[in-house]
Amino acid sequence: MARINQSLGEFIIENQKEFAYSSGELSRLINSIRLAAKMVNHEVNKAGLVDITGSAGGVNTQGEDQQKLDVFANDVFIRTLTNREIVCGIASEENEDYITIPGNNSDHKNKYVVLIDPLDGSSNIDVNVSVGTIFSIYRRITPMGTPVQEEDFLQPGNLQVAAGYIIYGTSTMLVYTTGHGVNGFTLNPALGTYYLSHPNMQFPEDGTIYSVNEGNYVHFPQGIKDYIKYCQQEEGNRPYTSRYIGSLVSDIHRNMIKGGIYMYPKSSTSQNGKLRLLYECNPMAFIIEQAGGKASDGVTRIMDLKPTSLHERVPFICGSKNMVEKAEEFIAKY
Ligand code: AHG
Ligand code: MN
Ligand code: MN
Repeated sequence: MARINQSLGEFIIENQKEFAYSSGELSRLINSIRLAAKMVNHEVNKAGLVDITGSAGGVNTQGEDQQKLDVFANDVFIRTLTNREIVCGIASEENEDYITIPGNNSDHKNKYVVLIDPLDGSSNIDVNVSVGTIFSIYRRITPMGTPVQEEDFLQPGNLQVAAGYIIYGTSTMLVYTTGHGVNGFTLNPALGTYYLSHPNMQFPEDGTIYSVNEGNYVHFPQGIKDYIKYCQQEEGNRPYTSRYIGSLVSDIHRNMIKGGIYMYPKSSTSQNGKLRLLYECNPMAFIIEQAGGKASDGVTRIMDLKPTSLHERVPFICGSKNMVEKAEEFIAKY
């Protein structure tokens, strides 16, 4: 039984039985993510004090500027997961290729792979706005005892065994699901412990917030343009409120609590939108659906898409069920 103020450690132990093939490994895996998240949190909180904001001078695999904290967070998560010998492979938004982790005696016996966006919304760091971390966990499909393969990472979202995000906001929270609902834990920074603060999170079926980078309006498909106009019309509970932080984790976290829709559609300048299927859309979709919301590319359920490459992007429309369905209606007209 989830109890408010229960610590994350206690919660993981109590709920371990819920995992289909539980042998404690998934619990240990989530434990190591919680540790890495504390380290990143500590660093994020110091941003501005020491010389860690700004660009690291490199570009990541998608040609985007790497921020120093991107690099730091990437290193921390990879190191923590590698040291604990629990996963057989890691794919990160910041690395071109996946990493193979041979494990104890190089026996390749670990069964989980982790996909991670170590720092989401990193362009917001320098201006003291919330950022996040997103993670997605699968069981490998290639035989144990052999090195992990790319196909272990290219599984559809509906095969995720767990997914979660950390939001480094006014407080730091870890929100995750193992397919039995969504629970949110808030970090008490004095104790370094996460406590259950948001049990059984539910995405309101309806909402009055729409979140989209409207600066791209002229490039959007007609269906999206029409839906945005619909959001702005005066009728019933409309016009809706526009809220866009530019940190996916923060925008969705807010919408999940208050009710709303988030859109990163395709546009005439980027045919697949911007967000990455494996590191951003699938894990957020798993959480959103587990909370009763909906996530699609405008037509197809995100978690039913069959990934074809590690860094592929997809249009992403997610949030309150009724709002997403309304947007899909507009898209279907064209
Ligand atoms: P990341 O920092 O991991 O590259 O992700 C940034 C993403 C996402 O967090 C956010 O919703 C989106 O980029 C914002 O993009 P625009 O600035 O194009 O609106
Ligand atoms: Mn991101
Ligand atoms: Mn990122």
